[in-house]
Amino acid sequence: MWIEEAHCGEAAASVRLSKLLGALSFALDLTEGQPIGHCARAAWIGLSIGRRMGLTEAELGELYYTVLLKDLGCSSNAARICELYLADDLAFKRDFKTLGTSLPKVLGFVLSHTGRRSPLGDRLRAILHIARHGGEISVDLIQTRCDRGAEIAASLGFPASVSAGIQALDEHWNGTGKPVGLAGEAIPVLARIARLAQIVDVFHTAAGPQAALDEARARAGTWFDPDAVACFEAAASAPGFWQDLAAPGLSARVFALEQGRGLVPVTESYLDDVARAFAQIVDAKSPFTSGHSERVSIYADLVAGELGYGEARRRWLRRAALLHDLGKLGVSNAVLDKNGRLDEDELREVRTHAELSERILAHVPAFRDMARVGGAHHERLDGRGYPRALKDDEIDLDTRIVSVADVFDALTADRPYRRAMTVPQALDLMERDSGTAFDPRCLAALTRALGRIEGDLSRAA
Ligand SMILES: [Fe+2]
Ligand SMILES: [Fe+2]
Repeated sequence: MWIEEAHCGEAAASVRLSKLLGALSFALDLTEGQPIGHCARAAWIGLSIGRRMGLTEAELGELYYTVLLKDLGCSSNAARICELYLADDLAFKRDFKTLGTSLPKVLGFVLSHTGRRSPLGDRLRAILHIARHGGEISVDLIQTRCDRGAEIAASLGFPASVSAGIQALDEHWNGTGKPVGLAGEAIPVLARIARLAQIVDVFHTAAGPQAALDEARARAGTWFDPDAVACFEAAASAPGFWQDLAAPGLSARVFALEQGRGLVPVTESYLDDVARAFAQIVDAKSPFTSGHSERVSIYADLVAGELGYGEARRRWLRRAALLHDLGKLGVSNAVLDKNGRLDEDELREVRTHAELSERILAHVPAFRDMARVGGAHHERLDGRGYPRALKDDEIDLDTRIVSVADVFDALTADRPYRRAMTVPQALDLMERDSGTAFDPRCLAALTRALGRIEGDLSRAA
């Protein structure tokens, strides 16, 4: 075997949960159109509030992960936001959070953001649709996000309190929130703190400490638990609070906290679960990529098996394949789901996803050595790929396997601009690029593995 089995990533036992999920929260920041580090800063603000509200150490651990992972379900409404509002989901979400509570402001925002890049007829139709169904639409969008976020938190082994906190993130103290309309102390305390911490960070990042304080005070008793706001004001008046919040090293400090240590043990199979959960978050972003990362992982594993990879290395590659498109969370659905040719700017935006995958994975303990696969999965052997135009030996075998699996799945799935191809059509098309785009060994291995599966299926029929 040309790869040493020992180089299969950091052993699970040495991985700290907070560092693992903390670094992955950077991917969630991208989905929300927030500056990197938003979830980490919000977690730090949340802990400052939670301590003053008298939460126990165990509750503070749960609060920490509720805030850090509050956006787990966010990618699941991105496509719908784009479709309904004909808008860039990332800019829409970012700007929407700084709107405040005034209804005319919210309406004006929706109208000014609806279909900015679309023909007038489409814009009018979208605006009329929103005018007629605005209420149901926003409940639906929030419900999807909350349900999905809570579900993913549960699949990552967190206690029901964390899922419930994420589920109720958009409820308001006065009962006017969504999706259920819970009020007062019926809203889990973790959700009340998470919501306040989120808004404080958004306003602080956009306009500074005074804006964050003003917003918290203005919504105390309507959106926010007044007690939580009072505790936030007390925390914010402590020396160094705002300086700490703005310090460049804050994310690392937040991930190094002992908060919630041992809440969920990190094992090898847990790392598989985390990779799968984030693959599902990526795949949920667009209806056209539904299931893509999971299928790429299966195809890559078939190829690796044919090429004689050992079990540990196959497991590593399955995770790398699951995470190869993580950076797509930073690409707008207006581009990902476009039905038509992408212009130069749009093409450039789509292509950023490989580098974004690499940058995020490079921060994640246990997944760090998968960054090269994420960064190079669109490179070609002939040097005509992106982002770095790497050639031949500059592209390692792991990445070549994922590239073949990736393109095979893209061809055999529906896309906004064309229908799915059959397996023979896809393999035939890829064969034409064997040796120029793809490694012939990987392509031949995929063809053999698929042929064997087809044989097994026809024998079983
Ligand atoms: Fe990709
Ligand atoms: Fe992909």
